[in-house]
Amino acid sequence: MNKMTEYCGIILAGGSGTRLFPVTNVVCKQLLPIFDKPMIYYPLTTLMLAGIKDILVITTPEDQESFKKLLGDGSQWGISLKYAVQNKPEGIAQAFLIGKDFIANRPVCLILGDNIFYAQGLALKLQKAAQNLSGATIYGYYVKNPSRYGVVKFTESGQVQDIIEKPEAPPSNYAVTGIYFYDNQVCKRAEKLQPSRRNELEITDLNRLYLNKQQLNLEVFSRGTAWLDTGTFQSLLEASEFVKVVEERQGLKIACPEEIAWRMGYIDSNQLAKSAENMKKNSYGIYLKNILHLQNK
Ligand code: TTP
Repeated sequence: MNKMTEYCGIILAGGSGTRLFPVTNVVCKQLLPIFDKPMIYYPLTTLMLAGIKDILVITTPEDQESFKKLLGDGSQWGISLKYAVQNKPEGIAQAFLIGKDFIANRPVCLILGDNIFYAQGLALKLQKAAQNLSGATIYGYYVKNPSRYGVVKFTESGQVQDIIEKPEAPPSNYAVTGIYFYDNQVCKRAEKLQPSRRNELEITDLNRLYLNKQQLNLEVFSRGTAWLDTGTFQSLLEASEFVKVVEERQGLKIACPEEIAWRMGYIDSNQLAKSAENMKKNSYGIYLKNILHLQNK
């Protein structure tokens, strides 16, 4: 693939985090820990597993320095990280206006900074979407209470008829998750969007533009998938518990960028050993050292 047809990625990690006040008065939501690592490691590694190595991190102006300090330029993980700011949380689709120069006519995958995905076969599923250079791919997931999300309305034959943002009476239980793949038309289409009643550029409106042109592909994440969002104290704690249970049972970490970079071939064993050495006094570094000796990569 040449550079123009390779997907780039955006992590949208701004927002106001009002549901986590007073904690988010001083700490940005996406830097809060989910069990043993910062929240943003989860969406970051999801993009890495999708094969995406050129990534823009969009944050609030005041939090940008902290993200830079945490993530750097990405070279330690064999990827490239750049940064941009969203001055006000004026909607998820604004990411494509802010990221226009970065995207530069490439297809792009957007992931929300507070979304956690964990499933068998997830990497392959996302890698497949990242092969698709025309139209958009979004993911539906069956949830008990879909009203907080964009919700898919299906025709009788099971085709997508519409997507309704935060409906009071949801037309199905399928919420649209916070990972979206778009072809290189996305910036042009995002520019056409008008702010909604709550004064945001809605990602649902962008998806409806693709739908109206018959260019929207909805995939479903099966029930063996965990999709967690972490916007409330309850969901934050549940996500931490989920990660803890799986990690302690297996002795393997979820969303460890060094490990994923190594397994994906973005860094070699020497680079992994160097990261392990730099952190050898803590359990994270010891873990990295241990996986280096795993027989089965
Ligand atoms: P939300 O959970 O909708 O909003 P929020 O994070 O500001 O939290 P709250 O509802 O408690 O005020 O946002 C989902 C994700 O998208 C989250 O990672 C923040 C991000 N986001 C932005 O970065 N900019 C935006 O304009 C919006 C709407 C969201």
